[in-house]
Amino acid sequence: MIKTIAITSGKGGVGKTNIVANLAISLSKKGKRVMVLDADLGLCNIDVLLGMAPRFNIQHMLNGEKSLSEIVVKGPAGIMVVPASSGVEELTHLDEFKKLRLIDEFQALQENIDYLFIDTGAGISPNVTFFCIASQETVVVVTPEPTSLTDAYALIKVLNTRYQEKEFRILINQARSSSEALEIFKRLHMVTDRYLNVSLDYIGFIPYDRALQKAVKSQKAVVLQSPHSQVSEAFSSLADRIRNMNSSSPKGGIQFFFDNLFEVSGNVGV
Ligand SMILES: Nc1ncnc2c1ncn2[C@@H]1O[C@H](COP(=O)(O)OP(=O)(O)O)[C@@H](O)[C@H]1O
Ligand SMILES: [Mg+2]
Repeated sequence: MIKTIAITSGKGGVGKTNIVANLAISLSKKGKRVMVLDADLGLCNIDVLLGMAPRFNIQHMLNGEKSLSEIVVKGPAGIMVVPASSGVEELTHLDEFKKLRLIDEFQALQENIDYLFIDTGAGISPNVTFFCIASQETVVVVTPEPTSLTDAYALIKVLNTRYQEKEFRILINQARSSSEALEIFKRLHMVTDRYLNVSLDYIGFIPYDRALQKAVKSQKAVVLQSPHSQVSEAFSSLADRIRNMNSSSPKGGIQFFFDNLFEVSGNVGV
């Protein structure tokens, strides 16, 4: 069954889109079939990062003008990207007809997908939290910046107290060493342990590496441009970690994903 994984953060600019892109490509190189749903309304989106030029987006599909396979763009290493960005807000409050259409379209493709990554925006708005609740796994990205830590805590707190989410995977990005990464994880763990009823799973770290910044400038994925850099090796290990990740959450599959998304958005009355 397809695994749905939201990559999210409290603070913006921590590296979510780079992580989604490079992780997706690494998994694809290891023989997995990966789709990315770009669920960030922001400007620095995955299509820009990878130098792709999508002609259509999810709105064309919801309007009935295009099918899902017509709006999907093939990226490096065969990853599939669903450009949603500007239509994301709409995704959380569709009418019944559009909901069914969305589920139908995704279900038709789901046999060809092993992983669906959702590149969410930052913060605690419904555009972010709904995708986390709908996904089987939520990966919270944290960097050594103190504000990144406090914002990650704020996001986890909202997901826990408002929506009863209990399990979070924590990924540290832009760490200078494994000990720095572990230190950040421990700090987050200390506060959640004290104030919330959640369990945090440390899934590793991605080092700070100029090679990634160079790749961003040339609109290429670092795992393809500098495959032997420190950061690319880290993405490869992370891909293995994701492959071996046993989910205790039952929320797998596309149907579950959209059912959850529509249920939570309906409940809040958006
Ligand atoms: N591991 C890293 N090493 C060095 N720079 C990084 C790393 N991860 C992210 N960055 C920097 O942060 C910027 C923002 O990353 P991005 O993936 O767009 O963040 P987000 O999607 O969370 O807003 C990148 O353009 C890059 O300059
Ligand atoms: Mg982004």
